Amino acid sequence: MIKKEFKTPLSEKSIVIGPDSKKDNIIFAIESSCDETAAAIVKNGREVISNVVASQIKTHIEFGGVVPEVAAREHLEAINLVISQAFEQSGLKGEDITAYAATVGPGLVGSLLVGMNAGKALALAYDKPFIGVNHLNAHVCANYLNTDLTPPFIALLISGGHTQIIEVKSFLEQKIIGETIDDAIGEAYDKVARLIGLPYPGGVNLDKKAQNGNPKAFKLPEAKLNNEYDFSFSGLKTAALQLIQRLKKEDRELPIEDIAASFQENVTSTLFKKTKKASDNIGAKTIVLAGGVAANSEIRKKFFALRNEGYKIYAPEMKYCTDNAAMIASSAYFLANTTDKLDIEVFSRM
Ligand code: KG4
Ligand code: ZN
Repeated sequence: MIKKEFKTPLSEKSIVIGPDSKKDNIIFAIESSCDETAAAIVKNGREVISNVVASQIKTHIEFGGVVPEVAAREHLEAINLVISQAFEQSGLKGEDITAYAATVGPGLVGSLLVGMNAGKALALAYDKPFIGVNHLNAHVCANYLNTDLTPPFIALLISGGHTQIIEVKSFLEQKIIGETIDDAIGEAYDKVARLIGLPYPGGVNLDKKAQNGNPKAFKLPEAKLNNEYDFSFSGLKTAALQLIQRLKKEDRELPIEDIAASFQENVTSTLFKKTKKASDNIGAKTIVLAGGVAANSEIRKKFFALRNEGYKIYAPEMKYCTDNAAMIASSAYFLANTTDKLDIEVFSRM
């Protein structure tokens, strides 16, 4: 049973959060699980009042990726500014907020601690409930922002750390029915991007190159798995490495755009096929894309084409695909895998 009634930390007043609440819920949320420091204010889980994201991409370009210790330090530097900007944009004050929320995991522990402790401190300072949010559920909830989407639906969660097909039965219930047994899709994108010499962040750069390449130039393998909804990308990554080594040995200039397009066609058609099958088998004709890789041009193209066959397809606006705090606020409101314990600790993995 999910609790909908929350207690304020000092005066222990009861506050009902979520669609059952008779009052408007204005939730202030913080996200700091990886390389963006973000704060947002969202009304009733859908209406974004303010949304501020400080990206660390510039710093991580220097290192060729995210260094956890560097990321945590950058969060510390950005957090206060991001919080005050979110308040400024909204015209609201600390006491106007119904509850404070923050990502508690999964993610980089040092980074999570910065955002979570800031969220707890605000909750204590203004005597409002604190809601700890699971980052993965929040990516799915990004689809509730500025839409009228309601469950049931099938969600494809594709990010730097996860690849999952989720059956969302209600606002409260998200059941994972398939997932990667090795690399996450975003990880595969970033690794192959590095192999062909593209700079960090690899995924979006590979996507750009792929748009000018021939997707049939190279045949790459597709994993066969017992669970028809599971994924594996490590064999594909090895095949891409071997292909690149062979081409280099032949002293040819690397056909970067064709390799990118062939890789992109391989992974996006696998994601598409499996998700569509899950949707057809379960009989949910609504499919929702979530996570950073949902920004991918080919994924959006393949899934959006299903609209012509009577499917409803949702994908967050680009700015809500990658990490942001508006989705954390939405998740806190719809109470998707949340906790209200003020002594909750952060966690790195599911
Ligand atoms: O959800 P997200 O912002 O962070 C995690 O929670 O992991 O996802 C980041 C991932 C990175 O691997 C990044 O390369 C990938 O999303 N990504 C893309 C695109 N934009 C971001 N991958 C492929 N195509 C894109 N357009
Ligand atoms: Zn994420």
